[in-house]
Amino acid sequence: MRDSDAGPGEIRKIRVWDLPTRLFHWSIVLLVGVLWYTGKTGGLDEMTIHMWAGYAVLALLLFRLAWGVIGTRSSRFAEFVRGPVSAFRYARGLARREKRPVVGHNPLGGWMVVLLLISLLVQTMSGLFADDEIFTTGPLAGKVSGEVVSFMTWVHDGNFNLLLALAAVHVTAVLLYRFVLRDNLIRPMITGRKVVPADTGVEGVRFAASWLAVLLSLLAAAAVYGLVFVYGSG
Ligand code: HEM
Ligand code: HEM
Repeated sequence: MRDSDAGPGEIRKIRVWDLPTRLFHWSIVLLVGVLWYTGKTGGLDEMTIHMWAGYAVLALLLFRLAWGVIGTRSSRFAEFVRGPVSAFRYARGLARREKRPVVGHNPLGGWMVVLLLISLLVQTMSGLFADDEIFTTGPLAGKVSGEVVSFMTWVHDGNFNLLLALAAVHVTAVLLYRFVLRDNLIRPMITGRKVVPADTGVEGVRFAASWLAVLLSLLAAAAVYGLVFVYGSG
């Protein structure tokens, strides 16, 4: 049933994405935009912003990895990383236009999320060792040989294209859900809540405590600070 087809009293709003997960997502979208622009422009000021935005992405990723283990159920890897059989069954159901609201990532989307997170992690880690041979050097480049620096710079340039391709597939999938399958995934990623028909048995999730998210974010920021400014050359 389409959200808009349901009359008053026939729909329910259930909790899907907690605030930390939503902030994580939209910060990543914004920062990747900044990193794209500054990386390709490549001036001295731009690259200073580039490195700071990169550190922020790294801290966000460390937070997200921890949140994926002890955060809200819908954000946990154990909840949404499923085997190929579930993914295949889900894809077959989609092809038949079967509709069951999913609380969290569906079994196919879960794999997309894993790929996006891995690509983001490779991008930030390789950036720490990259060198543009003009005036910008990653803070850990001095810790490794010249060959490793060249390799990491090559990974940093190449993996960015992969990241862009994954993001394009991701956004296309979200738009297909919205306009072909009539399932709005974007609104829950903004408001945290999903509209479902009242008679569906699915229940929302209980959000994990906010203090835990604040604590994990501080730990993630401290870890990046230690790696970049204490261990590395800043
Ligand atoms: C640089 C571009 C983007 C990247 C790298 C990215 C990355 C991600 C990641 C990592 C997740 C998993 C969130 C989590 O579990 O923590 C996700 C989910 C999601 N993203 Fe994006 N995203 C991008 C752009 C967008 C845009 C532009 C939109 C909206 C049009 C969007 C809509 C969504 C939605 C709706 C979900 C949840 C999907 C679901 O319900 O399973 N994303 N994205
Ligand atoms: C998700 C995070 C990141 C994204 C999306 C990103 C993206 C990019 C892009 C698009 C370029 C230009 C590549 C080209 O020449 O075609 C670039 C270059 C560069 N980035 Fe990043 N970057 C990220 C994180 C980082 C981090 C954390 C650092 C280091 C602290 C860093 C350091 C560099 C350096 C030194 C270059 C110049 C390398 C070269 O000339 O090829 N980046 N980055």
